[in-house]
Amino acid sequence: FWQTCGCYFSTSSQRSRQFYSDPLDAVKDIPNGATVLVGGFGLCGIPENLINSLLKTGVKSLTAVSNNAGVDDFGLGLLLQTKQIKRMISSYVGENVEFERQYLSGELEVELTPQVRPSFTQTFRINTFPLFSMAKYMYAKDFIVDFVYPLCCVNGRVEEIVDVGTFAAEDIHIPSIYVHRIVKGDSYEKRIEVRWLDSSGQAENPKPKKDSDIVRERIIRRAALEFEDGMYANLGIGIPMLASNFIKPDITVHLQSENGILGLGPYPTEEEVDPDLINAGKETVTVLPGAAYFSSDDSFAMIRGGHINLTMLGAMQVSKYGDLANWMIPGKMVKGMGGAMDLVASAGTKVVVTMEHSAKGDKHKILEKCNLPLTGKQCVDRIITEKAVFDVDKDKGLTLIEVWEGLTPDDIKKCTGTDFEVSPNLKPMQQI
Ligand SMILES: *[C@@H]1O[C@H](CO)[C@@H](O)[C@H](O)[C@H]1NC(C)=O
Repeated sequence: FWQTCGCYFSTSSQRSRQFYSDPLDAVKDIPNGATVLVGGFGLCGIPENLINSLLKTGVKSLTAVSNNAGVDDFGLGLLLQTKQIKRMISSYVGENVEFERQYLSGELEVELTPQVRPSFTQTFRINTFPLFSMAKYMYAKDFIVDFVYPLCCVNGRVEEIVDVGTFAAEDIHIPSIYVHRIVKGDSYEKRIEVRWLDSSGQAENPKPKKDSDIVRERIIRRAALEFEDGMYANLGIGIPMLASNFIKPDITVHLQSENGILGLGPYPTEEEVDPDLINAGKETVTVLPGAAYFSSDDSFAMIRGGHINLTMLGAMQVSKYGDLANWMIPGKMVKGMGGAMDLVASAGTKVVVTMEHSAKGDKHKILEKCNLPLTGKQCVDRIITEKAVFDVDKDKGLTLIEVWEGLTPDDIKKCTGTDFEVSPNLKPMQQI
């Protein structure tokens, strides 16, 4: 789970693997200022026992490299609370309020990185320690150019130690050469970040729907019409994911989750909940027969290789030529780009944005030009809001193709921050 930077472990003359019964023993020589790579996704698969041991050793000024930063009171969030982390290199940190506070107040150095698959022809060293770690790619100069977490197991921690030979060779996906220290942790809490059940979306207590619910449902029911038979689709957190509840029963859509699943199924029943099985939004999920698990590295090979037909995601701003901003508001909010930059950069993938037409205070979200940091340039193909659907052409700009019943193109002009063409085949907004 951990790798101190440079050659700290790898120069050790001790080449054989050491087993520890106490996780504290395995990390107590990690010095102040070390860089630690921390596996897992969200709270799933994180090295709980080792993180807790670092709280005990009190090591300081750590640089932590990890996909996420835990939540306020669990995972890496604990080491943030105690200010043991000086610098974080992460991709998506949207779940951690203390992280955001420390970053915005300048107490924490942060390097946010997309999940770009590095070129394997570059000169790099892979440092992984022990099982399930993230791999870090470094130039020979020891300068971090990129990191991904390709070699981590789907489930990142040792829960059982078995005899040599127990695994068939073809079942092993982390060869022992990467492993230096092994600790079998006990009493894993396996906290679930978002326990989402198949019933969670339905109102059990039939309260009158709020306006915001009506807006969301309208977008969801339009978004669901984007699915076509045989498609591979990657759906962002929230509205896009909920749209999958409305996939017509007569078509098959393969849902890809960038943390390493192809073939996501519906949300689980209470009995089916598995803390080790989550989607990219950290929600509990199920998988369908024929599903596959893979490393995040493979996941981004699929994405960047253009094998995903449809990406649906939310946005803070979209420009008339399809620039997209959805990962931070300088000085105010930082979530990180996660996989979004990779998803929208991939040629051959249709990018559909689902979002409310305007932000709070009727501020425009569809603009001549975005003023927030971009996630991608000229990458959006379609925008679906509760009022309208636009097609986006990266050279010609926007065309209004559908409008909500009762609204006119002039009404849409008034609430849109840029001009647009109106399709000669303008239709009422479709709903599934
Ligand atoms: C999905 O993309 C593949 C190319 O990767 C293409 O062959 C296939 O026809 C597409 N399917 C749909 C339903 O768009």
